[in-house]
Amino acid sequence: RAEDVPVITIDGPTASGKGTLADEVGKALGFGVLDSGALYRVTGLAARRAGLNLDDGAAVAAIVPTLDLSFREGHVYLGTEDVSARLRAEATGLLASQVAVHPAVRQALHQLQLNFRQLPGLVADGRDMGTSIFPDADLKIFLTASAATRAERRYKQLISKGVSANIESLREDLEARDERDKNRSTSPLAPAQDAQLLDNSALTIEASVAQVLDWWQTRRPF
Ligand code: DC
Repeated sequence: RAEDVPVITIDGPTASGKGTLADEVGKALGFGVLDSGALYRVTGLAARRAGLNLDDGAAVAAIVPTLDLSFREGHVYLGTEDVSARLRAEATGLLASQVAVHPAVRQALHQLQLNFRQLPGLVADGRDMGTSIFPDADLKIFLTASAATRAERRYKQLISKGVSANIESLREDLEARDERDKNRSTSPLAPAQDAQLLDNSALTIEASVAQVLDWWQTRRPF
């Protein structure tokens, strides 16, 4: 049964390092990984390509079942097109945040996310993994980092890929996205009551992974 498959949820704001942490913890435990943001990103991208009005929740939700999505070796495919790089673009993150406000869109993506719960276990990262999608998760993490730290990380990431960037405007963009994600009425970004808070502003990736694995070892018994 799905409820018997262990789940670790990692929620938090934009550029807090959720994806990297989820990948590393997944690797260490041999668990699968769900990058739920990628589902909102691909929905935003497909809606934009279809010329839909992103404020029309019903229209955007209606394209979700028509998406020919597949996930292979950390890449996301829309039909035969590898959209992974496009999904990571800042512009696509903004589209995702816009479509994610609609309850109908969140509902359309709900079952798809549950399908990732497979043995031997799952690490799921997003905004509402511990609060809405996997409320019975065995371990819930709420990951934060200061806006300055997150902007700096995003800046270095872009520069290393040869993309020019402005640190001040990156910070403004991610604060705007945080505001929208926190203030929407359906499944806003917020820590689950039973989440462990982890501020990684001053932590290396290795230290954050070690902390999560330590919590996992000492979690409440099944
Ligand atoms: O984690 P991310 O940056 O890839 O997420 C992109 C956007 O998708 C984010 O601004 C809000 C939305 N999102 C969401 O509403 N719920 C999730 N579980 C994951 C992402």
